[in-house]
Amino acid sequence: MNHKIIKKVQTCVENQNDWRGKKTINLIASENVCSKLATSLSYSDFAHRYAEGVVFHREYQGQHYQDQIEAITIAAVKRLFNSKYADVRCPTATIGNIAIYYGLCKRGDQIFTLSVPNGAHISMRKFGGAGLRGLKIFDIPFDYDNYNIDMDLFGNLILGIKPKLITLGASVFLFPHPIEEIRKICDETNTIIHYDASHILGLIAGGKFQDPLGEGADVVIGSTHKTFPGPQGAIIITNNEDYFEKIQQGIFPGTVSNHHLHRLPPLTVVCEEMQEFGEDYANQIIVNAQFFAKELDKRGFKVLGKKLGYTQSHQILLDLSQYGKGLNNALLLEKADIITNKNLIHGDLVNKDTFNPSGMRLGVQEMTHVGMKQEEFKLIAEFFERLIIKEESIDSVKKDVNFLRSKFIDVKYSFDEELGGKNE
Ligand SMILES: Cc1ncc(COP(=O)(O)O)c(C=O)c1O
Repeated sequence: MNHKIIKKVQTCVENQNDWRGKKTINLIASENVCSKLATSLSYSDFAHRYAEGVVFHREYQGQHYQDQIEAITIAAVKRLFNSKYADVRCPTATIGNIAIYYGLCKRGDQIFTLSVPNGAHISMRKFGGAGLRGLKIFDIPFDYDNYNIDMDLFGNLILGIKPKLITLGASVFLFPHPIEEIRKICDETNTIIHYDASHILGLIAGGKFQDPLGEGADVVIGSTHKTFPGPQGAIIITNNEDYFEKIQQGIFPGTVSNHHLHRLPPLTVVCEEMQEFGEDYANQIIVNAQFFAKELDKRGFKVLGKKLGYTQSHQILLDLSQYGKGLNNALLLEKADIITNKNLIHGDLVNKDTFNPSGMRLGVQEMTHVGMKQEEFKLIAEFFERLIIKEESIDSVKKDVNFLRSKFIDVKYSFDEELGGKNE
């Protein structure tokens, strides 16, 4: 045994758990942490197995408990999101989007998605899944005043192009998309509405943001690890049997072989947590995001979407062009143990500086999940001001960051307290 390498691996895992799990204030909008109960069920023999096919129709033997857990998870997802059909096999939403494009479209079909600078995820675009499927991609027009889809322009474009499918949803997602309006037009053109709820799935679970299936989306996909605080993976839900069957073909044999079965027990636990605590959790996320945005604005930061109340999701978008741009500030904040990411914003299209864009995307969901409220977000806004505007010493801010975080380690909105630590 190479003891040196084993020791290095152990130390690396310990350091990661200690730093990212206990010391940093994480404001990456696409991440979260699971409850102790969900974590305790995250690694099991399921991690070693294959279950190609669908529940009770598999390629291999030995499926008894694998069928059981997948059936339980599907039922929990359908109950939580009030959908007729659910598939839980995609290990990532990127793969899920590819499976949807494979199932519902054919090479050469025309689709609409947002552009990347306006919030699209790469899996919806030419260099990602939609491009792999050979789809012809048009940009959904965007209105920067309302920070949303420009319906005046979009309606006519849909009627003119008659796309096979429209992908709504985004990685930068401040305000709900106008699904009902788009549905009415798509009914005339026979266009499928695919809604990517990856970022806001936990808000939807809590009955906030918007109800995509209820408002007229045909198919909804979401990551299970962003605002939805579960294991990394994705779910797909729909009420349309025909689309469901086609997407299932897109998943297997299309894009997934083993589907990381060990995700399913923790995913089910988190569905149950969201049934019980989801509304409070989602509500607090939105309260925290709006409050944090206002506190940053008060201190001199340019927060986009101000006249619309900044945000209706977990995200805030900053324009840091006056303070040295996105990447430089993300690096500065990281030195003080505040984790963020640079982001493209509208002006960057003109300047074409995509490596160090002017924007920064912040998400409050993980720190909300560990119990932070307005009082704590006021302190975090102060940390931003102290570091970026007042240029205070990194060490002194970092000390305060670590102290604040040390009081918020365990996940709230979960069954952990009820179980009294038995699940450790
Ligand atoms: C809108 C959207 N869709 C899909 C994805 C891809 O998710 P995953 O990392 O699960 O592949 C992301 C990732 O951040 C996203 O923002």
